[in-house]
Formats: sequence, structure tokens, C-alpha cells
Amino acid sequence: MDARQHELSADEWDEVNFPRPQEQGFDKVVESAISRRGFLGGVLAFGSGAAVMGTGLLKSTTALAQQTSRFAFEQLAPQTDGTVHVPEGYTWDVLVRWGDPLFSDAPAFDAATGHPSAGSDRVFGENTDGMELFNVGGKELLVVNSEYPNPKINLPAAQEGKVASAEDVTLLQNIQGVSVMEIAEGPGGWSVVVDSPFNRRIHHNTPMVIDGPAAGHALLQTDADPTGTQSLGTFNNCGSGRTPWGTYLTCEENFNGYFGATEEVAADQPVMDGYKRYGVSTKVDPGRYNYHGFDSRFDITKNPNEPHRAGYIVEIDPANPESAPVKRTALGRFKHENAASALTPEGRVVVYMGDDERGEFMYKWLSNDIYVPGGDTSTLLRDGQLYVAKFNDDMTGTWVPLTPEATGMDPAEIAIFTRTAASKVGATTMDRPEWIAVNPTAVEAYCCLTNNSRRGVLNDDGSVRTNAGGDPMTVNPVNPRETNRYGQIVRWRPHDNNHGTDTFDWDLYVMAGNPDVHVEGPYAGSANINAGNLFNSPDGMQIDTTGLIWIQTDGNDSNEGDFAGMGNNQMLAGDPATGEIRRFLTGPNGSEVTGLTWSSDKRTMFVGIQHPGKPFPDGEGSLPRSSIVAVKRKDNALVG
Ligand code: FEO
Ligand code: CA
Ligand code: CA
Repeated sequence: MDARQHELSADEWDEVNFPRPQEQGFDKVVESAISRRGFLGGVLAFGSGAAVMGTGLLKSTTALAQQTSRFAFEQLAPQTDGTVHVPEGYTWDVLVRWGDPLFSDAPAFDAATGHPSAGSDRVFGENTDGMELFNVGGKELLVVNSEYPNPKINLPAAQEGKVASAEDVTLLQNIQGVSVMEIAEGPGGWSVVVDSPFNRRIHHNTPMVIDGPAAGHALLQTDADPTGTQSLGTFNNCGSGRTPWGTYLTCEENFNGYFGATEEVAADQPVMDGYKRYGVSTKVDPGRYNYHGFDSRFDITKNPNEPHRAGYIVEIDPANPESAPVKRTALGRFKHENAASALTPEGRVVVYMGDDERGEFMYKWLSNDIYVPGGDTSTLLRDGQLYVAKFNDDMTGTWVPLTPEATGMDPAEIAIFTRTAASKVGATTMDRPEWIAVNPTAVEAYCCLTNNSRRGVLNDDGSVRTNAGGDPMTVNPVNPRETNRYGQIVRWRPHDNNHGTDTFDWDLYVMAGNPDVHVEGPYAGSANINAGNLFNSPDGMQIDTTGLIWIQTDGNDSNEGDFAGMGNNQMLAGDPATGEIRRFLTGPNGSEVTGLTWSSDKRTMFVGIQHPGKPFPDGEGSLPRSSIVAVKRKDNALVG
């Protein structure tokens, strides 16, 4: 493996190592790249659809100028250095870093060498990602994902990232998953309450329950768990979500990367199609983490069903440290980015979810039962209907139910091979759906479509690139750019102001771009992109209680060429009413800014800094450490 691959984020590594097939089927690109002006004109020409949307791209720049800004800060300039920046009038401080103790018996962290394998389940995990804050009995509980490890940094430097022993594997397994920790604000700022009875590490060996239509199915049975209902660990925990009843949802994304083969896998294996669709490697090589070299559970030649037990939404009750996390298979198996909940007017539970891979899909869950505060919530993520999104060219869309009738698959198969089910109903291939956010102040939701280097690209024989299921990644109005390197954010409004309705209107809230480099054409970006707020690859996203959209990026931070003037990855705020977007925070070079939540009093925002390329936050001579920073206004006013 190329040593530079260690520098890649989990998303990027997966893309590099599991490239989608060059050709499947023959579909010519039917739409050429749409010019910036042409796109906007085309959208407006759809008339009735445009009229009901009324904001964002569909609003003229004149209307933009007439609005008063709702932002309580001046735009931050792009930055290229190794630390965090916030606007004038704001401060930031480190709350917690990889390796900081959650318990007083945790091993000491050495700035240059990290921590040992023994006790590695007693510290804050690596590569912070999605997070949510819960107030339980007056205590502030922060629940945080640790997405993947950095073997080059987490293991002894002399190994250069090579996983060389079972002890190494244990260390890596322990520093991923989810951390639950009580935090408190004192005179010196926010800190972790070490040894709080709520503190908990959930990692790659934590027992959990498998629930829903896939539970007990033959494809989930293993030698260690012949019932197919009890699994160990949650994997590649990317984005997050929260339920109305106060539980945390952690989202298993690039789970495929933890499995590998120690012997040739027979090509006629019945599960081979599933491996291919999800990128489970059948190559006999160490892969990125080489779990399978030392822990046979991850060796698909010995445990071919183990990969079927990952790739789900997992529900965790932060208020009950003894509770087993629950894998909710009814919500489908794919590379889950995050899980954004809403309620229908009658109280049914909706969860929007994206599958982050080029040309994969967007999904919606709708419960059968209604949420009653204080009532039984056990069926709300078990009994219901999973849908997949179809975006029509007329700016309407449909949530297509994944039923046995529509797919020819039984409920367990739909839950385990959800991508296949979605392909069967003709879902719209998307430009890598990352976070979805539901607006608490309007009946609408947004999804970051981060980028897609293969969109509209042709194979040598003239056919268009496809996802692993053979669905063409043809350019379409919601994914309008060939070789989409900047990304866009799609917004939808369900008909009847009801997230339970299966039809919606949509528009693009923003198309990121670079009008300095591409003066016109689609890569200039939409009208709300200007020289001051350049960014690429929107990924993390939350909407605060006032309706402002916070957008975090995981993109190219070279600050050169197509990306000149964008600087490091960053967090911006967007006003959905005017379309205005302003840069608020920048991360250290090499880092991705991901994960955002607020203290209960909304006077602190917690922001995740993942995989800094510089020795952030401790400076020269120390290892780079993924960290959560606490951002406040100097006057302690509200920040969300
Ligand atoms: Fe883990 Fe797609 O981000
Ligand atoms: Ca992400
Ligand atoms: Ca990403």
C-alpha cells in the first residue's frame, strides 16, 4: 500500500481502494454540463416547482442584497496554517483530544509516542466525528464518534503504520467507536468530568444487540453467534443523529475496510455480490488495518458473514451506561453518513440518511407507530417503511418504498442488501450524500453532496461510469456537474408540510465553486458563492435553533489551482432565507472540520477537528491529535 494512503480520510481511502467498475451497461450521457447561467435559467424555467421554493438559488441576487444579514460575526478570511481560527469577538479552547483520560486509571499520554495498548479503552477516541449533547438530570453528556484510526500516528512510529500484532489491533479497536462523557464548564472553561458514572467507551468489541428484520437471519449468523442477534462492536462511526426520546444514533460508514481475506475467496461464493456492492475486499493482503491478520472475526475466509453485521444505524442510550447499543437493521445497511430525525404532524418518526459513496443513494425511514413522550419507543426504529429518493428533472421528487413487491426481496434481504433494493426501484444516483440536516424552523431538510469525480465521466467504450450496482452516474439536475469537484447542497420541502409525505419539491441551496478560477460555467458555483466565502466539499451540517445552517468541509485544502482562495477546511454559516453564506471557523491544515453540537444554554458550540496534518493542538514535538474545540463569544452571548 502506498504510504501516502495513510494521509487519506476514511472516505477517500475507501474511494481509492475500492474503485467502482469501469463499465457496466451502456448509457450515454444525455445531458452535457450545464452552464452556470444555463442551470439557473433552466431551473427557473420549471415554473411551478420554482415558485413554491422561493429562496436560495431561486432568489435573485437583488433579493439577496435587500436582506439584512442575520450573522453576528464578520467573515473570517481563508487560512492555511496549523491551528484553528474564529472571527473577531469569539474565542476557542480545546475541550478534549485523542488520548485524554475519561477515567483516572487511563494510561498517561506521551506527547511524542501516544499511549500503550493496555488501557486504550479508557481514553477519548481518535478521529472525532459526529457528536450530540444530551442534558441528563442537569449533567451535560457529550456523545462523540471516533471514526477510524491513524495507524501511523497511533502505533509506535518505527512501525510506520504497519499493524504488526494482536496488541496493535486491540489498540486500534479500542480508540474507535463512541465516547460518552460528562463535561462541565468551570472558571477555566469546559473540561471532561473524569470518572463520571456516565463516562463510557463503546468500541470494536462492545457487545450489542441486533434488532429488526435482519436480526437472526442466516446471513448474520456466525460461529460465535449462531443466533445472529448479538454482535460485537460498531464500526467506522461517521456522522450522528439524535432521537426525540433522547438517544444517540451512531452511523456505520466505511465498515468494509475492517474486513479482509487470508486465503483466496471462491468467486462463486453466494455472498460475493454483496461484497462487491459494499467494497468488502477479497484480496489476500493486509489492507489498511489488518485486523484479519490477527483477529479471525474479521477474516472473511473464516467468517464470511461478519461483514453483514456492520453498516447499520446503532442506537445508544447515553443516560444508561449499562444499556447495550442496538443495531437498527430496519434502517438499512449501507455506508451510513448520519441520521437526521423529524416528526410528522401525527407524531410518526422520520429519519433521513445518506449513503456516502459515489453514485449511491439517499434514504428515509418512516415509523408505523407514533412517538409519545415518556411512552414505549422500542418499535419506532423497528416497525415502519424504508424509502429511497428519486429526484425528478421538474424539481419534484419521490420517496420510493423499498417493499418486497417493488424489489423482489424479502424484508431481511432489503435490510442487509439495501443498496441492491434501491437499485431495483431506480433511485437517483447521487454525488456522495454526506450529512443531512432537518430545519427546526421550517418543514425542510438539506443534504451535503460532497463531490463526485466520476459524475458524467465516460469509460473508454463511451458508456458512462456507474456505481457498483451498475446504475449510471449520468449528469442530472440535482447532480448537475461532470467531474464534480466542489459539491452542492440539495434542499427539499415535503409536500403538505409533512415529512411523512412521499413527494417533495427540491432545489439546490448552494453549488460550491470558484468564480475566481472559473469565471463562468458550472464551476463558478451558484450566485451565493463569491470571492470571500470560497469552499469545497461540504460534508458535516447542523441547523441551529434559529435556523442558521452550519456547513463543515472535508475537501481539498491545497489552496491551489481549482481550490485557490479556499484555504484549509472550514465551517461556514448559511442563512436559508437569503442564501448568504459566511466563513466562521477554519481548521488546521490537513484536518477535516466535522461534528458540531451546542451546550444546553447555547453559549458554547463544540466543533470537531479530525486528522490534523500539523501537530495540533500541542505544537511542535507532539503528535497531531484530533480534538474537540469549544467556541464561545467573548461576551458569552448565544451562539446557536
Ligand atoms: Fe465519514 Fe462520508 O464521511
Ligand atoms: Ca463526513
Ligand atoms: Ca467527506
